[in-house]
Amino acid sequence: MMNQEIRDLLKGVSIFSNVDDNGIDKLCDLIVSKDYPKDSLVFGQEEAGDALFVIAEGRVKVVLYGESGKEITLSFFKPGDFFGEMALLDDMPRSANVVTTESSSLLILKRDAFKRHLEENPTTAINILSELSMRLRTADSIIGNLTLLDVYGRVAHFLVDLARQEGETVEEGILIHKRPTQQDIANMVNTSRETVSRALNEFQKRGLLKMDGKKVLLRPQFYTEAG
Ligand code: CMP
Repeated sequence: MMNQEIRDLLKGVSIFSNVDDNGIDKLCDLIVSKDYPKDSLVFGQEEAGDALFVIAEGRVKVVLYGESGKEITLSFFKPGDFFGEMALLDDMPRSANVVTTESSSLLILKRDAFKRHLEENPTTAINILSELSMRLRTADSIIGNLTLLDVYGRVAHFLVDLARQEGETVEEGILIHKRPTQQDIANMVNTSRETVSRALNEFQKRGLLKMDGKKVLLRPQFYTEAG
């Protein structure tokens, strides 16, 4: 990846939004990019963490593996998102596994460079706090939904959250360009792939959404009903 491309990408990353050109140049010199094929483990839970990652291209999921190999998905990240900050901030091992769901190009910022950047750019630290607060809100809502909603409600909520994060407002509603696979959604809302498939088909039959491959169009009555 060219330096100019990295520079442009970093400017679009929310946590670096207040960093001036000089600061971005410094970050560029410290960052390396690395390509990962689809389905590769970027790092595993319990590994020592020594870097922050920013997604240049591709997508990843944050997952835990249960004893029996059951996969629990905690979050999905897209280009411009960052992950791996927790182990750097609290000096504990990685809290979860991160796996690519597409072939991906990741920017890697080592611990020392990250710490130096934070010292020189306190607004980045404040932006990280704000993002962590948002992630905690999402986690709270997921925990609540697991006990309070039935499976269809959880699938609906998942789609509305996804639309909020990365949907495009179009005339007919909100368009999600790339939804996760049905299995990944199932791992997120604690159900089976078949149930997710049934829920999506039922929503479509009722005219609440329209599916076209990985694209999902949520109609207004869908997100006003699901909250
Ligand atoms: P770290 O613990 O270093 O490695 C795993 C990363 O996954 C973690 O940093 C966060 O970036 C991310 N992560 C862990 N749990 C969650 C969660 N519940 N929601 C969103 N991201 C998470």
